[in-house]
Amino acid sequence: MQRSSILGIGHYVPTKVVTNDDLAKLMTTSDEWIVQRTGIKERRFIERSGIGASDLAVPACEMALEHAKIDKKKIDAIVFATLSPDHNFPGSGCFLGDKLGLPGVPALDVRNQCSGFLYGLSIADAWVRAGVYENVLLVGAEVHLTGIELAERGRDIAVLFGDGAGAAVIGKATRENEGIKSIKLHADGAGAKELWLEAPASAYAPRLTPEMLVEGKHYPAMNGKQVFRWAIEKMPEVVREVMTESKLSLEQIDLFVPHQANLRINQMVCAKLGIPESKAVANIEKYGNTTAATIPLGLSEAWREGRCDRGSNVLFAAFGSGFTWGGAVVTL
Ligand SMILES: CC(C)(COP(=O)(O)OP(=O)(O)OC[C@H]1O[C@@H](n2cnc3c(N)ncnc32)[C@H](O)[C@@H]1OP(=O)(O)O)[C@@H](O)C(=O)NCCC(=O)NCCS
Repeated sequence: MQRSSILGIGHYVPTKVVTNDDLAKLMTTSDEWIVQRTGIKERRFIERSGIGASDLAVPACEMALEHAKIDKKKIDAIVFATLSPDHNFPGSGCFLGDKLGLPGVPALDVRNQCSGFLYGLSIADAWVRAGVYENVLLVGAEVHLTGIELAERGRDIAVLFGDGAGAAVIGKATRENEGIKSIKLHADGAGAKELWLEAPASAYAPRLTPEMLVEGKHYPAMNGKQVFRWAIEKMPEVVREVMTESKLSLEQIDLFVPHQANLRINQMVCAKLGIPESKAVANIEKYGNTTAATIPLGLSEAWREGRCDRGSNVLFAAFGSGFTWGGAVVTL
């Protein structure tokens, strides 16, 4: 069967840098607390209201198309992973298609939070291998600023997230050995309320009330310790699964791009698997957790820094809200 491959990759982050000290002016926190617990030093936030996830995605997609040396007219499907869509509906993929000038091209939104890019990769991979579409534009983009509570009550979550976008062109593999070797996805809704955004909710009538706004139900809520525990167990587990299916050994992996939720999580995952930290991408210090954007952003930066190139074996792993998690092995 035809194999699919990452033909090009790109990213974009807003220009506004917000440091931990900036956040400490809005809530009781400190640079020391945030760095010690998470590794985050600063994050990017959109510069003004009116910029949505699809806006951040545009320059990331243009960079990915240029990298792939593919004209946008060759894109025949869009997959857009985000937990922060521009609006509740339609999906951000529709807004993006319009902004890129791709009328008629199908656009699918994927709502799998930190694992969204890997869920999207699985869809794009299946479409290309089955011959349904030839070149899929796969995006992960998030605007968190407008969804977090930058105040005392929201401090546990507000310090963790940042805005950004990443994009990949997924198309047919042409070189021998190139391509996506394995993808494994998982979900367990038993953890759904450990990291969630309760309202607006179709489960409630009305979906949002003034009382819910006062209670802050429109902000994400998280049981950080549970998320941490699950992440350090499930990420190594799924890595072992994809390594087995790929028939490659961990020694043959040139670059590990883990989701960036917490530097300590990734250090523990590397230690459990015996992956040297020098092989792992760690950009959480600059961007915080950019959710679905994290993996393409990490790969795009690493590729441009010369940490990987065509022919490199790359390992991905993610864990997040849902709970959802996944892994992939790709030869670039
Ligand atoms: C969020 C996380 C960094 C918190 O670290 P922790 O060591 O578990 O810290 P705790 O939640 O026990 O909080 C310790 C104390 O710091 C306080 N605290 C919480 N947020 C704080 C902040 N931003 N600044 C300062 N103190 C804070 C807590 O209120 C608590 O105070 P208390 O001991 O008086 O009750 C950690 O649990 C984590 O990274 N979890 C995974 C989160 C994640 O990955 N989320 C995204 C999923 S993709």
